[in-house]
Amino acid sequence: MNIQWYPGHMTKARRAMEEDLKLVDIVVELLDARIPSSSRNPDLRTMAQSKKKIVILNKADLADPAVTPLWLESLRSEGCEPIPLDARSNTGLSAVRSAIDAAAREKRERDLRRGIKNRPIRLMVAGIPNVGKSTFINSLAGKTAAKTGDKPGVTRGNQWISLGRSVDLLDTPGILWPRFEDPQVGIRLALIGSIREEVLETVLLAREGIRLLEERYPGKVREHYGIEGSDAAELIGSLARVRHTVKKGGEPDEERAAALFLNDLRRSALGRLTLELPSGAEGE
Ligand code: G4P
Repeated sequence: MNIQWYPGHMTKARRAMEEDLKLVDIVVELLDARIPSSSRNPDLRTMAQSKKKIVILNKADLADPAVTPLWLESLRSEGCEPIPLDARSNTGLSAVRSAIDAAAREKRERDLRRGIKNRPIRLMVAGIPNVGKSTFINSLAGKTAAKTGDKPGVTRGNQWISLGRSVDLLDTPGILWPRFEDPQVGIRLALIGSIREEVLETVLLAREGIRLLEERYPGKVREHYGIEGSDAAELIGSLARVRHTVKKGGEPDEERAAALFLNDLRRSALGRLTLELPSGAEGE
């Protein structure tokens, strides 16, 4: 499910987040482990300033296992409690549960000091579209199905799912808007398949993807496909020839080759890759 992010949608999503935030004590923010920075909404930090935050690097199964620890370290230095997760197979889920328990305990103790007793601790899940919010809620809640809620600003009745030990989870996740002002963010979101492909032309996007991989993982694309070329455009042409994607007249079909590359990138056929490094690790 994708949303075209017009300013009106962003305003609605922001309002919905602000309303939901009033109801909860803890916010679990999901980032995509392949692009932790580009999948992060910086506004959440100011919006949820007074809330306890748990940050999850979801889809860690698709990200470079050598780079995820760098991101964990970088997020930890910001005071977050980052946890890598594969919400599909539940790898990392017990660490998430422990973090929620610890945050709830902290909040409960604070309540007790203020004389508040037996109040359930409430939390919500937030993140940009396709980051895995519904999958995560389903994993966390067990059999209870989470409603899909990728429509910013849609009025809804709040329902709570009990996670046990007096911790309740808001059943619909908060939708966060990506930072489109930076074109690189848009490109990275499109590369992992998080935003609609038509937004950027397939061949141009594939070129950007190849350029990014050449920078982050030199030689990977050439090696994987057995292709040659001095730049991204030539590499796509070479891929079209190697994979025999040709148009009617026998010309290489670059659009099909580009789509093939993007599909492979998104399903990790080229290996587990992380497309960006934390700022301190840039140039490593
Ligand atoms: P959202 O609510 O944030 O929009 O995301 P949602 O849970 O719908 O997940 C979006 C896609 O990401 C789904 O794939 C889901 O299975 C996949 N996904 C979620 N978490 C993980 C993870 O940790 N690892 C991996 N590899 N994938 C994850 P889909 O192709 O849209 O659907 P389907 O293939 O599951 O049917």
